[in-house]
Amino acid sequence: MRYSMSQVPNLTMNDGHRIPQLGFGIWQVPNDIAAEAVENALRVGYRLIDGAYLYMNEEGLGEGLRASGVPREDVFVTTKVWNNEHGRDKARASVERSLKTIGVDQLDLVLIHWPVPDQDLFVETWEAFIKMREEGLMRSIGVSNFNADHLDRIIEASGVVPALNQIEVNPELQQPRMRAANASSGVVTQAWTPLGNARSFAAKPITEAAARTGKSPAQVILRWHIQLGHAVISRSVKPARQVENLDIFDFELTDAEMAAIATLDVGERTGPDPSVFKFMS
Ligand SMILES: NC(=O)c1ccc[n+]([C@@H]2O[C@H](COP(=O)([O-])OP(=O)(O)OC[C@H]3O[C@@H](n4cnc5c(N)ncnc54)[C@H](OP(=O)(O)O)[C@@H]3O)[C@@H](O)[C@H]2O)c1
Repeated sequence: MRYSMSQVPNLTMNDGHRIPQLGFGIWQVPNDIAAEAVENALRVGYRLIDGAYLYMNEEGLGEGLRASGVPREDVFVTTKVWNNEHGRDKARASVERSLKTIGVDQLDLVLIHWPVPDQDLFVETWEAFIKMREEGLMRSIGVSNFNADHLDRIIEASGVVPALNQIEVNPELQQPRMRAANASSGVVTQAWTPLGNARSFAAKPITEAAARTGKSPAQVILRWHIQLGHAVISRSVKPARQVENLDIFDFELTDAEMAAIATLDVGERTGPDPSVFKFMS
């Protein structure tokens, strides 16, 4: 099977590199099915794969990438450095290992997965990222789960603004302040767990927009992310859902629908709080 062209628009990051606004994530996808999931995702039109050392499936990521037939230069590959590999030497070893395991010469984006403020090594890790980018190990560098104070600290210490901050955003956790903090520093926000574990699939603003547009609750929510202007990563191991989640560029939510979805924000995370999270495994 040949691969489809992508309809996903790009955003431009502060380092001049472009990033697909919608990507495909592989958290909790076992290594032995990651290859097939990534291959299929690329064939149906995704052009960004969001991986991490923690996900233990970087081998599958690389296999799927090669099997898809999509040229390497057309795919945006992200990985992340885990909490127990902060610090200059460990961060470098982590990035070198990811390059080798995925089987690519250069990563498109590497993120500090969590700030882990307790161990206070994220500034040193960031400085190592800057050096590795200069050497060409990755094209862009960013962070994940950084609060505004963590962002300010690395920017002040290094003078280098992250290209992107990947944070949890979904209808019940809309993060208006954090999205504004990213924007005011010129950092692209990228949303993880965008569907919020289906918590709002049955909420009226979602079901009403779905009924009007003939789309599913998941499509309405992903479209809401796109219209807020940030980047978003979705995940499904089911081929039909991979296609469904991409099929969000032929309709628009009205201002009233966007405003109704805004009322679903209750500030509740599905994941941990970045100011205290320090899981190391
Ligand atoms: N930086 C971080 O700390 C962090 C944390 C969490 C996630 N992430 C990244 O963000 C990505 C996205 O987050 P997530 O994996 O939680 O994604 P998500 O897309 O919000 O949720 C995925 C779940 O929703 C289901 N699903 C997907 N499409 C659906 C649809 N159309 N209708 C109904 N259910 C649907 C999937 O089930 P099926 O697979 O069975 O379809 C899966 O259980 C991750 O894969 C990872 O790459 C990063």
